[in-house]
Amino acid sequence: MIDLSDIESRLPAFEPGTVWLVGAGPGDPGLLTIAGLFALRAADVIVYDALVGDAILNLANPAAERQFAGKRGGRPSHVQVDITLSLIEHARAGKRVLRLKGGDPYVFGRGAEETLALAEADIRYHIVPGITSGLGGLAAAAIPATTRDTNHAVILMTGHPAAGSEEGIDHVDWAAFAATGAPLVLYMSMGNLAAIAEALIKAGMSGSTSVAVVTDATTARQSVLITTLSTAASDVLAAGMKAPAIIAIGSIVEVRAALLAHAIGPLGATS
Ligand SMILES: C[S@@+](CC[C@H](N)C(=O)[O-])C[C@H]1O[C@@H](n2cnc3c(N)ncnc32)[C@H](O)[C@@H]1O
Repeated sequence: MIDLSDIESRLPAFEPGTVWLVGAGPGDPGLLTIAGLFALRAADVIVYDALVGDAILNLANPAAERQFAGKRGGRPSHVQVDITLSLIEHARAGKRVLRLKGGDPYVFGRGAEETLALAEADIRYHIVPGITSGLGGLAAAAIPATTRDTNHAVILMTGHPAAGSEEGIDHVDWAAFAATGAPLVLYMSMGNLAAIAEALIKAGMSGSTSVAVVTDATTARQSVLITTLSTAASDVLAAGMKAPAIIAIGSIVEVRAALLAHAIGPLGATS
């Protein structure tokens, strides 16, 4: 039988002066990878985002320095450049630096910006992928990202304009996305849900298209709302749902009904 130390012995050494960029998964500590757990135990400094909960942070070596680098009240409390500089400084000081992010670092997590900056600063890094909320979070709500009967593709996208951009969501070619017929899985879209739904309907998507809104996926607070494109924004408002949320639009949402009765887990409220 393989034990954890066998797996850990096959990982690269977490060397002083290097940075490990680790995806913590969508929230449930059980969904952290073994490599992520190893990094938490070995790190000297942990620079973590708001979506990484205590249940995961508490797995770290208690002697490790913890540095919060997330967002508070929806506003960036640390600008990206400061976070990157801090990673570089800690690494140059000879620390084992763990950059811990929710989900997967390379999926809407600005992970690539950070590893590019590390590379430019001549600092070696190791990336540990995590389960992205747009796939794992949906699965936890009994919504499969693909089935052979419903879709051959799935589109992961953000409904949030790029930082500093004043374009809103208008620069997105919604008609092109709607025309694919593939389900859309939206990150960071709660604030723009009404505008996105309106744009998709204008682009030709039916207002009766099924929509699922999954907040705090995989945690004990997980909540699920099943609605339609034309009613999604008002239903979310009425239900008082708040970010973080994954919003799935399309046929995959309908598969949930057949799966729900036998699914085990924090599946959240249904409506
Ligand atoms: C900055 S992005 C980070 C995405 C992350 N890198 C990932 O792979 O899941 C933050 C967004 O991810 C989504 N998200 C992350 N964790 C979530 C969770 N537990 N439940 C629902 N949505 C989540 C939400 O759309 C949130 O606004």
